[in-house]
Amino acid sequence: MADDMTDEATLIDGKALAARLREKIKDAVTGLKASHDLVPGLAVVLVGEDPASQVYVRNKNKQTVAAGMLSFEHKMPADTSIEELLAVVRRLNEDDKVHGILVQLPLPDHLDTNLVINAIDPNKDVDGLHPINAGRLMAGQKGLVPCTPLGCILLAKQVEPDLTGMNALVVGRSVLVGKPVAQLLLNENCTVTIAHSRTRDLKEVCRDADILVAAVGRPKMIEGSWIKPGAIVIDVGINRVDAPEKGKGKTRLVGDVDFAVARGVAGAITPVPGGAGPMTIACLLRNTLQAACDLHGIEMPNIDI
Ligand code: GUN
Repeated sequence: MADDMTDEATLIDGKALAARLREKIKDAVTGLKASHDLVPGLAVVLVGEDPASQVYVRNKNKQTVAAGMLSFEHKMPADTSIEELLAVVRRLNEDDKVHGILVQLPLPDHLDTNLVINAIDPNKDVDGLHPINAGRLMAGQKGLVPCTPLGCILLAKQVEPDLTGMNALVVGRSVLVGKPVAQLLLNENCTVTIAHSRTRDLKEVCRDADILVAAVGRPKMIEGSWIKPGAIVIDVGINRVDAPEKGKGKTRLVGDVDFAVARGVAGAITPVPGGAGPMTIACLLRNTLQAACDLHGIEMPNIDI
């Protein structure tokens, strides 16, 4: 129905944007090899056998190699001790072939995540999770920025290159996404609100949001009717729900926003899957390129998309 179609939000194609970014990174890596004989290297450490983590790590490895970078995988058993894990991190800190270090989360319960993150050389912390990088982001200093938040900003800027003055609402206050994306939006001159599980009237807060970033991990937490007409909606949620319409026992992925209703109200919206998700690994490769350049005092090539 054509009439309905014209009222629907623009779909922000994160899959296509991520592919474009990876192409730019690949060209930059080729250039870096030619000009400086430098090949960026990314090391990923995976402890245990969490199936979702294994899929992420496999994809990271594939895309790192496809971008022309070196990929180092360190798979360790679930009963690895903190001393053994810290020893691997310290070895990677000293390895000149490694410019980016990522320890896949979540770690098994007996391992202290903060101890491990704090042991990573901040200049190789391509996840942007070390407190030094969090501090740099807040202080407006150059540093490594968490990948999913960076992807959110790139997606929003595809719709509106200048976010200055817009009301941005971030729903969720995690260290991995909510807090850093709020800081990045502030750096883009947005007026930023952070809402969370204790927010009193989320519907009311949503009403003024020109940009809404949803990062809570609860399916359909944001109702479509709450969205401000014309808003840019970036849905970071990846929730697996039952999908009986696909057959008995089948599931599908949905975001934190009620997409079916929201797409009739928003100006632009990311789908799930195919929105924010694909941007994360592309931004990880971007950060690895940046870390390699910074560690060697080379100017970062232009990879604007
Ligand atoms: N597990 C899920 N997402 C992430 C991420 O962005 N970084 C790390 N290290 N682990 C994750």
